[in-house]
Amino acid sequence: MKHSSEYELFEQYNLSGHLLKNRIVMAPMTRCRAIGNIPNELMATYYGQRSGAGLIITEGTAPSPNALGYARIPGMYSDEQVEGWKKVVDEVHRKNGKIFCQLMHTGRVSHPANMPPNSQILAPSAIKLEDTKMYVDNQGELKMPVAKAMDKNEIEKTIDEYRHSAANAIRAGFDGVEIHGANGYLIQQFLNTASNHRQDEYGGSIANRCRFGLKVVEAISSEIGPERTGIRLSPFGVMNEMEHFDEIEDQYLYFVTQLNRLDIAYVHLVDHESMGAPEVPEEIKREIRILFKNSLILSGGYDKERAEHDLSKGHADLIAFGRPFISNPDLVTRFYENAKLAIPNTDLFYTPGEEGYTDYEKLHEKIKI
Ligand SMILES: Cc1cc2nc3c(=O)[nH]c(=O)nc-3n(C[C@H](O)[C@H](O)[C@H](O)COP(=O)(O)O)c2cc1C
Repeated sequence: MKHSSEYELFEQYNLSGHLLKNRIVMAPMTRCRAIGNIPNELMATYYGQRSGAGLIITEGTAPSPNALGYARIPGMYSDEQVEGWKKVVDEVHRKNGKIFCQLMHTGRVSHPANMPPNSQILAPSAIKLEDTKMYVDNQGELKMPVAKAMDKNEIEKTIDEYRHSAANAIRAGFDGVEIHGANGYLIQQFLNTASNHRQDEYGGSIANRCRFGLKVVEAISSEIGPERTGIRLSPFGVMNEMEHFDEIEDQYLYFVTQLNRLDIAYVHLVDHESMGAPEVPEEIKREIRILFKNSLILSGGYDKERAEHDLSKGHADLIAFGRPFISNPDLVTRFYENAKLAIPNTDLFYTPGEEGYTDYEKLHEKIKI
């Protein structure tokens, strides 16, 4: 039984050997500032400004050219990208922060105009997205082409790309890697019946739909260590045209049971109800909390009060904040001082440049860029 005093927002936390200075996590957020898919000084400034968080999880980062669905997102497959990430990591470490890299393969959520030559849009099955569009620079919102259904070689190669990019992340100095298994990207495309119609060992049953994601987790944790591996999941999430299906709850419980076997550092659950998504039953979060033996991060629509409540009730070990960190680089200080929070400018979430990115002010110092 954990005691409520263990769950103070501003207390240190030992995340599988990583000593976090508080329980406040910066949630992964794609910001589209990586021109040429290479991390840069501007990104180092942005993350450095937010290093008051106990743990920063980076924006979704592509483990392969095939994973570059969105414009201007960073990768982790080339030496140039590793060098770029070193600047980010060094800046966060210099300020005494910890940082994990989120590896995101967009799968079918992609457009060739956002991808380099010789890349391919891959997915478990060739099923088109009906309503979701993809933004392309200078062209606007475009329909996405139908992905190619992955053959066994492509599955193996993709798992290997994840493994290689996790090793690259450690080479860049990251404290660990978060596998993006949420929000309708490649791993969830395997998990969900809306996007997985396969009839081989990667589809058709709970164990088969989980196989790809678990192989990715296994590959990464054996490469860099389970204590440096986490995963983000969005049970009942519908982003990118995911659907509810009869076995969904049992499937997530099976998945988490397997994660226990692999002994990874954390599970990070997403609930996008605050962003207009359908409600995620509290029950599934509680079941995962009970089932998963290592750390649990909860995220989605949190403010300070709700975070303290959930920590004090033992519902989670850490709480991740997304949008509040965009407009409040010193979110931890503001929480500590019960100060007013600045509202983010949503028009500038994904635009290139420093505006709406590194120019939000701290309470006690004007940020110099
Ligand atoms: C601009 C923006 C970009 C995002 N990009 C990612 C991403 O790359 N990976 C991810 O897992 N979630 C992403 N999310 C979701 C956030 O991590 C978080 O779950 C969501 O914002 C809800 O938390 P909040 O209410 O604290 O903002 C993004 C959200 C926003 C607002």
